[in-house]
Amino acid sequence: MNQDSTVIVTGGAGFIGSTLVRQCLAVGSWSVVTIDKLTYAGNRCSLTEVLDNPRHELVEGDVADAALVAELLKRHRPQAVIHLAAESHVDRSIAGPPQFATTNALGTCVLLDEVTRYWQQLKEAEQQAFRCLLVSTDEVFGSANPDESFDEQSPFAPNSPYAASKAAGEHFARAFSQTYGLPVVVANSSNNFGPRQHPEKLIPKMILHAAAGQSLPVYGDGLHQRDWLHVEDCGDALLEILRAKKPSSRYVIGAENCLTNLHVVELICDFLDELLGDGKNRRKLIASTVDRLGHDRRYAVDAGRLRSETHWLPKIGFEGGLRETVRWYLENPGWVAEVSRREESGPSY
Ligand SMILES: NC(=O)c1ccc[n+]([C@@H]2O[C@H](COP(=O)([O-])OP(=O)(O)OC[C@H]3O[C@@H](n4cnc5c(N)ncnc54)[C@H](O)[C@@H]3O)[C@@H](O)[C@H]2O)c1
Repeated sequence: MNQDSTVIVTGGAGFIGSTLVRQCLAVGSWSVVTIDKLTYAGNRCSLTEVLDNPRHELVEGDVADAALVAELLKRHRPQAVIHLAAESHVDRSIAGPPQFATTNALGTCVLLDEVTRYWQQLKEAEQQAFRCLLVSTDEVFGSANPDESFDEQSPFAPNSPYAASKAAGEHFARAFSQTYGLPVVVANSSNNFGPRQHPEKLIPKMILHAAAGQSLPVYGDGLHQRDWLHVEDCGDALLEILRAKKPSSRYVIGAENCLTNLHVVELICDFLDELLGDGKNRRKLIASTVDRLGHDRRYAVDAGRLRSETHWLPKIGFEGGLRETVRWYLENPGWVAEVSRREESGPSY
């Protein structure tokens, strides 16, 4: 990737995408084209500071719109495509799987098809330098046993419709690489947290409920474990993978912060008590609720390959990052109101 590269980011108005777009624009003089359907999960207000940047263009569109994708590739001639656009909420996938197949499997297939056509007509040196990076999840590996950590060799065992649809997208990526030689790299990230995550997800939901003195519904016994990674560290990892001269075909990304949901919610309560200083004990708001169907017990990843093959190391510790995330939600009620205004009546988290 050169200093003046052009990168297409799909899903750039979402949580990870909006962070990554900012990070890409901070690299030398890269230009960024964001393609985003602006579903309930994608919001212009997540990109406010970069909407007027002359090196950034936000295109409202669907990755499954082959003509649009082809036209954008032809017009912008990118050196890389980073594919994040997806339906991303597990509970919504349980309530309605087909939309997840449409976006995450078919949409990915259409995008890869157009990217392949574009890549095939590049000159040989341009072909070698080109990268397509598919952002996926550790959830494609299913539920980890106690003490087990997923790595690049872990077998697929998706348990939710969301995970199955992401695995399907990954299978297309592999097939396009094997069949046409398209240089695709898959990144399986663990759970991200940080600013601008949609309020339907666990951490923002608990922050906003606890701040408002509302009940904090935690699934089952609350002992399900997730491996938390700050969204800026995830973005840094994706950029390192993009820069790698000879990348492997897959990297798992994680920061070894495997914690129970209950512990995370308790920390959120403690940080809010401390930041708001109102003498309340928000842990009392925690309430067990009926468990999610097919709920994976544990996710944990070993990012050893990423650390050894690139310069990446996570920079943001979990507790410090969580405290700052709590502060961000308290300080940005306008963003919360705008995003919540568009929220359909969805499931809990
Ligand atoms: N957030 C996490 O913890 C996490 C962890 C691992 C992997 N991932 C993956 O990273 C990617 C981004 O996740 P996120 O948390 O930012 O999700 P998100 O839901 O916040 O953002 C998804 C974005 O994709 C857009 N989008 C949806 N369908 C589209 C379509 N057909 N065409 C164009 N745009 C479309 C939405 O408008 C939204 O802006 C997803 O592929 C997700 O599977 C997320």
